[in-house]
Formats: sequence, structure tokens, C-alpha cells
Amino acid sequence: MKILLGVGGGIAAYKAAELARLLMQREDRVRVVMTRAAEKFVQPLTFAALTGHKVLTDLFAIEDAIEHIAVAQENEVLVVAPATADLLAKFAHGLADDFLSTLYLAFTGPVVIAPAMNVNMWRHPATQANLAVLRARGQTIVEPESGYLACGMTGPGRLAEPETIARAVAEQGRLKQDLEGETVLITAGPTQEPLDPVRYISNRSSGKMGYALAEAAAARGARVVLVSGPVHLAPPRGVEVAWVRTAVEMREKVMEHLPAASIVIKAAAVADFHLSKVPPQKVKKTAARVSLELDPTPDILAELGRRKGDYLLIGFAAETENVQQEARRKLETKNCDMVVGNYVGGSETGFESDLNEVVLVLSTGETIPLERATKREIAGRIFDEALLLRLKLHAAHGR
Ligand SMILES: Cc1cc2nc3c(=O)[nH]c(=O)nc-3n(C[C@H](O)[C@H](O)[C@H](O)COP(=O)(O)O)c2cc1C
Repeated sequence: MKILLGVGGGIAAYKAAELARLLMQREDRVRVVMTRAAEKFVQPLTFAALTGHKVLTDLFAIEDAIEHIAVAQENEVLVVAPATADLLAKFAHGLADDFLSTLYLAFTGPVVIAPAMNVNMWRHPATQANLAVLRARGQTIVEPESGYLACGMTGPGRLAEPETIARAVAEQGRLKQDLEGETVLITAGPTQEPLDPVRYISNRSSGKMGYALAEAAAARGARVVLVSGPVHLAPPRGVEVAWVRTAVEMREKVMEHLPAASIVIKAAAVADFHLSKVPPQKVKKTAARVSLELDPTPDILAELGRRKGDYLLIGFAAETENVQQEARRKLETKNCDMVVGNYVGGSETGFESDLNEVVLVLSTGETIPLERATKREIAGRIFDEALLLRLKLHAAHGR
């Protein structure tokens, strides 16, 4: 892979030299871009010697007037380490006043950002808000480690180890097109079940997990059909969206697209109950108590499990307790290949959050807990494990 290494002006800039060396060993080519502040900490010559290429520093001191565009086009991954608080702010807001920040805007490939700074700078709401913007943009943040910092304070802020950053870069390379030629069918979001023409029952699902899965699958080369309930999210680029409102509509769309699908992921929070006969007019307010008689909605996952042909079936179990046991129970009763157990009782993960912490329960009997991470990172891990699982299942069935 052709890698761009952006170096910001922090104490940890010296560690970027070790990162450059590691990347040189593993990747095809590394080109280094330094900010003016970074040059105060490490000489460009160090990186030039390590990579065998001229270091890019000044937007205006170059022979080719649009070198930042050419450099952006020629390279496959941009890794920024150390990323200063200043760079995070510039990236988040789209400022472009030097080579690195201009390159960041011109670059369309995956970006890995490894921040390092004083603990108070790291915890500052401005920095955290900038990070949230970058994460929401799908960029990989290699979190700083906790420990003794150069400023004499202790806490998070120390640049992750070069080895960890190099692995995150390699991970982007694995954003190989390993889903090319496949159709991935994903459901996302809540459903809304009408009670009358103006009222409905629904749930707190934001659709973020399903949308992250759709984005990850599309990035890996799949044709993605996203059957989405009502959400406030922009559909990921290159994804075909079928909008639905109710569980019944969701079932119809899923069955319509099923024949083409090689992987089916049911990430939607489909209502379990609905009014099968919705009154045609608004129900009038009265002083008397009203009771609702609800019928079960179609169990789409169970139907997919019963019909299962050649597709890999992945369900989600959103639970507030006994997540792993419930996920295993769902896997068995619904005949899934994998169930993603999702704890939704906390405030930081689950519904509406950008973060998630899940456990993967597989039909092979394996259980794989995934540490807290962004939904986009979790989505990537789910596809990694799903593809591995499919290989194992094919091997077990002699296919
Ligand atoms: C000795 C010293 C160490 C610094 N270390 C850091 C650091 O680790 N992280 C950070 O975000 N800023 C650090 N700064 C502040 C940045 O150098 C400053 O914000 C600069 O404008 C960043 O420029 P750049 O983002 O273009 O590299 C440090 C400054 C000094 C003088």
C-alpha cells in the first residue's frame, strides 16, 4: 500500500520516526508530510532518510503547483501521528492553511488519526467534539494511551505505540474489496406501528449500527441493499435504500431483495407487536381508560432462518440483561449463523450512541466479545468475523 504519514508538532513527533520505519518494512511506500511545528521537534532529514523520499512540508515551496492534489491521488491511506489538538480542530472544521491540512481535504481514501497531547487538552470539550466529528466521518481514531506524559501529568494523551498505529494502517489495507461481487442485505432503524392515522408505537433505535454496517460493506466492495425504518441519518454513499415504516413493510422489502443476497444482517429494531386493524380515523380523546390489544408482528428473522439457503444470516439481540445468553438463545431458536448481542441498558453504548460494545455469538459455538468501539469499527469487525465464519461453515459442509 502507498501510505502518507502526516506528522504534527507534538512531543511525540519523534515516535513517528519509528512508525515510519515500521511502515517502510510492511508497506510499499511511505511519504511523509510534516507541519511547520513538527519540524521544530524532528528534522525532515530523519524521515527522508528512513523513507527514501523528499519530505513534504511547504504548500508553496514546491515545483509542481498542485502537488498536494497529486500526492492525495497517488496514495491509499493517510495516517496522522502524532495528531495535535490543532490538527484535530483543523480536520474537523476543514481548515486548509498548510500542506497537511490541505492534503487532508484533497484525500478521499481512509484516514487513520493517532492523537497525542496533554491530558487536559485531550479531555477538553473542544477536542472531544472535534474527535466526534472525525469519528462520525468514519475515520479511524487510534486512541492515545494512559500513562505518564511529557508534561509531567498522568492520564490519557500519550501517543499509541507505533506498532498499534501500524496495525490500524494495515487494517485499512484489509479494506480490501473482500465483499466484491456480493449483495449484502441489511435492515436498520426502528419500525413505526400505527395506532390510528396520527399515532404510532416505535422504539429508540437510531439506525446507526445498521447504517455503519451498510457503510462498511459498501467500502469493502459489496452491493448493499439497506432496508431502513424511519431514521435521521444520511444513507451511506453507494448504498441502495428501501424505505419502510412498519414491520410488515420491512418483511416485504426483505423478501423482495432476499434472492440476490449472500449475507443478510437484521440490525433493525422491528416492533414485536402491532395493531393488526388500524382505525381509519383518529381515536378521540376521552376521560375513560383505553386499552390496546396488540398482535405479534411477522417474525422476519425466524422466517429467514427457516428459509435459509446459501446466505449467511446475522441477527441482533438488543438486551438490557443476560446479553450473551439471550444472543445464544436467539441464535438457536432463529437458526442464525451469528447473533450480535448488544447491551442497550447503558447510557454510553447501544441506542442513539456512536459507540457500541457487543458480543458475537456464532453457530460454531464460539463467543467473541468486542471491546467498546465506534459502531463503524464494530461493523468492520462483524464483517471480518462473518467472512471467517462462512469459510469455517463451508469447510465443515465440504463446500
Ligand atoms: C514543547 C511543546 C510540546 C507540544 N506538544 C504538543 C502535543 O503533544 N500535542 C499537541 O496537540 N500540541 C502540542 N504542542 C502545541 C503544538 O505544537 C501547537 O498547537 C502547534 O500549533 C501545532 O501545530 P500543528 O498542528 O500544525 O503541528 C506542543 C508545543 C510545545 C512548545
